[in-house]
Amino acid sequence: MSEELRTSLSNVGYIGAGVLFILSLAGLSRQETARRGNALGIAGMIIALLSTALRAEFSGYLPLMLGLAPGALIGGILARRVQMTSMPQLVAILHSFVGAAAVLVGLATYLGHSKVPPGEQGIHLGEIYVGVCIGAITFTGSVIAFLKLQGTLSGRPLILPARHLLNLLLVAITVGVGIWFFRCSETGTGGLWPLVLAVSIAGILGAHSVMAIGGADMPVVVSMLNSYSGWAAAAAGFMLSNDLLIITGALVGSSGAILSLIMCRGMNRSLVSVILGGFGSGEGASASAGAGPQGEVRSIDVAGAAERLREARSIVIVPGYGLAVAQAQHALSEVVRALQSRGARVRFAIHPVAGRLPGHMNVLLAEADIPYDIVLEMDEINDDMPETDLVLVIGANDIVNPSAAEDPGSPIAGMPVIEVWKAGTVIVMKRGMASGYAGIENPLFFRPNTLLLFGDAKKTVEGLRNALSGE
Ligand code: TAP
Repeated sequence: MSEELRTSLSNVGYIGAGVLFILSLAGLSRQETARRGNALGIAGMIIALLSTALRAEFSGYLPLMLGLAPGALIGGILARRVQMTSMPQLVAILHSFVGAAAVLVGLATYLGHSKVPPGEQGIHLGEIYVGVCIGAITFTGSVIAFLKLQGTLSGRPLILPARHLLNLLLVAITVGVGIWFFRCSETGTGGLWPLVLAVSIAGILGAHSVMAIGGADMPVVVSMLNSYSGWAAAAAGFMLSNDLLIITGALVGSSGAILSLIMCRGMNRSLVSVILGGFGSGEGASASAGAGPQGEVRSIDVAGAAERLREARSIVIVPGYGLAVAQAQHALSEVVRALQSRGARVRFAIHPVAGRLPGHMNVLLAEADIPYDIVLEMDEINDDMPETDLVLVIGANDIVNPSAAEDPGSPIAGMPVIEVWKAGTVIVMKRGMASGYAGIENPLFFRPNTLLLFGDAKKTVEGLRNALSGE
C-alpha cells in the first residue's frame, strides 16, 4: 500500500472515530441509551488504534504489540474483577495513567525536538511545557484521589496554614521555571532539567490540591481529574501532532468540566474552590465533625418495619452506598412490586452523589429492572417529603444528613440533601452506627420520627420481601 493511501485511509479512520466518540458521549448522557453509547465508544477506540497503526510515519509494530497486548490483558482482567463499589478508584488510577503518559510524551518529544523547523520551536516548546505540567498535576492528583477513595489515605481534608499562598507560590515558580526552560532550550535540549523541575513542582501542586479536599467533595474532584486527564491527552496530541488525540482529549476535557459543573451545582460548591483545592471550606468546618449529636436511637425489627410499610400509602425509598455493598437491589425490586400490588405509591429518590460514582444508584436500580418512571432526582421529590407517609433509607447516610441544611459549621453545610426527616416516618436500614463517607455524625438517627432497622441490607430487604409477599 502506498504511503499516500495509508495516510488517506488513516485520516478517514480518524474522522470516523471522532464521530463515534461524539455519538458515544451523546448515548452516555441518557440511561436508556448508555449501553449503546459504550459500544460506540469501544468501536471508535478500535478504529482509532487501527488508523494510528496504519499511518505512513508509523513503523514500530513489535513495540506496539509488546505494549498493547499486556496492557489490554491487565486492563481486561482488572475491569472484570473490579466491584461496582470500587469503580471510582479504578477511574482515578486510569486518570493517573493519562497524566503520566502526557509527562512521558512531553519528555520524549523534547529530547527529539531538534527535528522541528526553527520557526515553530517556540510553539512546540510551549506545547511541551504546558503538556507536562497538566500531565504532572493530573498524575499526582489522581494518585492521591485513588489513595483517598481506597481508604489508604484519610478522607479528611489536609488544611495547611496559608495553603492558597502556597498554591500561588507553586504556580509562580512554575511560570519562572518555564522562562528558564525557554532560555535553556534556545540551543538543543539544555532545558531538560528545568522541565524535570517543572514536572516535580506541578506534581506537588496536584497532590496538595487534592489533599485539601474533604470526603464528601471527592466526587467533584474525581470528575475534575477526569477533565484534567482529557486536557493532558489533548496536550499530548499537540506534542505528537495527532489530530485525533487532540479531538478526543478536548471531548473528554470539556465533558468532564461540564460534569464537574453539574456536580458542583448539585452539591452547592463553587468550581473555583475545587480547582484551588478546598478553597472556602471553613476551618471551623471540621470542628463540628467530631462532636456527635446526643440523643436516643429507636430501633425496629423486620416484622415491625413490614407492618409500617403495609400501612403506608405513599412511600419513598432512598438508596445509598450500602445498597451497592449489600447488592440488595434485586430483593428490593420484589419489595417494590409487593408494595405496589397492595396499592401503595412507591418512588425512589436519587441524590446526585449517592454511592461512589455518578449514576451509581441508577445503574443498580436498572440492573434490578426497576422502572425509570418511579426513579426521581432529589430536586423532583424533595418538595413531596411532607406528604410522604414513610421513607425507607437503605444504606444511605451523608445524602440524608440534616446538618447539611441546619448546621452552618458542618463540613457538608450547604450541600443539598434529601430531606427525609420531613416525612411521617423514616426507617433507616444500616448495620450499626458507623458514619458515612464524609466521616460525620448524622442527627437524623436521633430524630423522634426515625427508626433504625439494623443489619446487612441484603438480609433485611430479603426479610421485608418475605414478610410482604408471604401474606
Ligand atoms: P455513605 O454516606 O457512604 O453511607 C453509607 C452507609 O451505608 C453507611 O453509613 C453504612 O453504615 C451503610 N452500609 C454500608 N454497608 C452496608 C450494608 N451491607 N448494609 C446496610 N448498610 C450498609 O453513602 P451515601 O449516603 O450514598 O453518600 C455517598 C457519599 O460518598 C457522599 O459523602 C459522597 O460525597 C461520597 N462520594 C460519592 C461519590 C459519587 S460520584 N457518588 C464518589 C466518591 C465519594 P454501617 O456501616 O453502619 O452499615
